[in-house]
Amino acid sequence: MYNFKYKNPTKIIFGKGTISNVANEIPAKAKILMTYGGGSIKKTGVYNQVKNALKNFELFEFGGIEPNPHYETCMKAVEVAKKEKIDFLLSVGGGSVLDATKLIAAGTLYKNGDPWKILSEKDRITDALPIGAILTLPATGSEMNGNAVITKNATQEKLAFGSPKVMPQFSILDPECVFTLPDRQVANGIADAFAHVMEQYLTFPVNSPIQDRFAESILITLIEEGPKVLANRSDYEAAANLMWSATMALNGLIAVGVPQDWTTHDIGHELTAFCGIDHARTLAVVFPGVMNMKRDNKKDKIIQYGKRIWGINKGTDNEIIDLTIQKTIDFFESLGIRTKLSDYDVSEHIIERIMNRFKERGTKMGENTDIDYIETGAILKSRL
Ligand code: NZQ
Ligand code: ZN
Repeated sequence: MYNFKYKNPTKIIFGKGTISNVANEIPAKAKILMTYGGGSIKKTGVYNQVKNALKNFELFEFGGIEPNPHYETCMKAVEVAKKEKIDFLLSVGGGSVLDATKLIAAGTLYKNGDPWKILSEKDRITDALPIGAILTLPATGSEMNGNAVITKNATQEKLAFGSPKVMPQFSILDPECVFTLPDRQVANGIADAFAHVMEQYLTFPVNSPIQDRFAESILITLIEEGPKVLANRSDYEAAANLMWSATMALNGLIAVGVPQDWTTHDIGHELTAFCGIDHARTLAVVFPGVMNMKRDNKKDKIIQYGKRIWGINKGTDNEIIDLTIQKTIDFFESLGIRTKLSDYDVSEHIIERIMNRFKERGTKMGENTDIDYIETGAILKSRL
C-alpha cells in the first residue's frame, strides 16, 4: 500500500426525517443562500421542509441550476451572494446543484480575476464560503468530497476542480428523497457510483487487500441493492443502502493508498460536453472500452474483479477477462443504460473532436499515464 494522508471533515446526518436537522447545523446569524435546481424540490416537498426548518433564518434563494451545471449560471449566483453579503451556502438537490454551489462558494471570495481559472488553470482556492448540503439524489459522492465538475456553455468545456475548502461542512442524506426519483436518475446513480469504485480499484495490485475489499463491498452492494430500488422506489432499506454506497464510493476512503485511473470519467466528460449525454451513461459506454484496451496492464485486477464480483472462476485469463467485461456491460444494460456510442447517435466526427482536444491539452490518463489522444480515439471507436 502507498503512503497517504486522509482527512474527511464532512459531518453526515443520515436517515429518514433528518432534513429538519438542518437548522441545528447552521450558525444562528448566518445569511444563507439556498441553491437548487430546476424545481424537483418543489414537487417533492423537500423545498417546503427546508423552508420550514429555516424559518428563523435570513434565507435567500437561487434556483435554476441545470444538470451538468453551467459556469455562467454559477456566476449569476456569485453576483447574488456578493450583493446580499451571503455567508453560508445551502445546496438542496443532486450532484449538479452541489457542484455548482462549490464553485459559487469559491467564486464569491475569489480575488484572482475570473473564477473559471479555478477550472482551466487549476488555480488553487484559498478561501470559500462554508457549504451545507441536503442531498436528493445518490450518485456523485459530491456530498462528502471536495470535487466539482462544471461546464462552460460558451466553449462546451466540462472541467473538474477539487479543494478541501469546498468540502461540505455537513450533508443531510434522507433516503426517502430517492422515492421521487425517475428510473433514469436511479439507474444513473447506480452506474455512476459503480464507475467511481471501479476507477479507484481496477488498476494494478499494490498489496492493499483492505482497500480492495472496501471497494468490492460497495460494488456488490450496488449490484444487490440497486435493482431493488429500480423495482420498488419506496423500498426504504434498499434506498438507504444505495445512498450510503454512493457516498462511500467517492468520499476518498477507497482511493487512499492505491493507484487510480480516471480515464473513463475524463473521456465521459467530453461526451457530455459535446453531446449532452447523461454523465453516468457516458461512463457505461466508455468503461468497457477502457477495460478491453488496458486488459494487459489491468489483468490481475480484472481477473480478481471477475472472480470476486461475478463469480467467474473457469477459463484462460483472456476468457475470464472477456466474460468479466461482458458481465459489466450486462449489468449496465440491466439498469436500462445503453452502452454503445451508436445508442446515443455519436458519430466519428465527435470522436475526432475529442481526440483533437486531448491532443491540444497534451492529455495523458491512466494509472501509468499512458492513455493519450490516440488511445482515446481507439477506445471510443471500439464502442461505436
Ligand atoms: O434540477 P432538478 O429539478 O432538481 O432535477 C434533478 C435533475 O433534473 C433531478 N432530481 C434530483 N433529485 C431528485 C430529482 N428528481 C426527483 N426527485 C429527486 N429527489 O435529477 C436530475 C439530475 O440531477 P443531477 O444533480 O444533475 O444528477 P447527479 O447527482 O447525477 O449529478 C450529475 C453531475 O455531477 C457531476 C457530473 O459530471 C454531473 O455534472 N459529478 C460530480 C462528481 C463530484 N462532485 O464528485 C463526481 C461525478 O463523477 C460526476 O462527474
Ligand atoms: Zn461520476
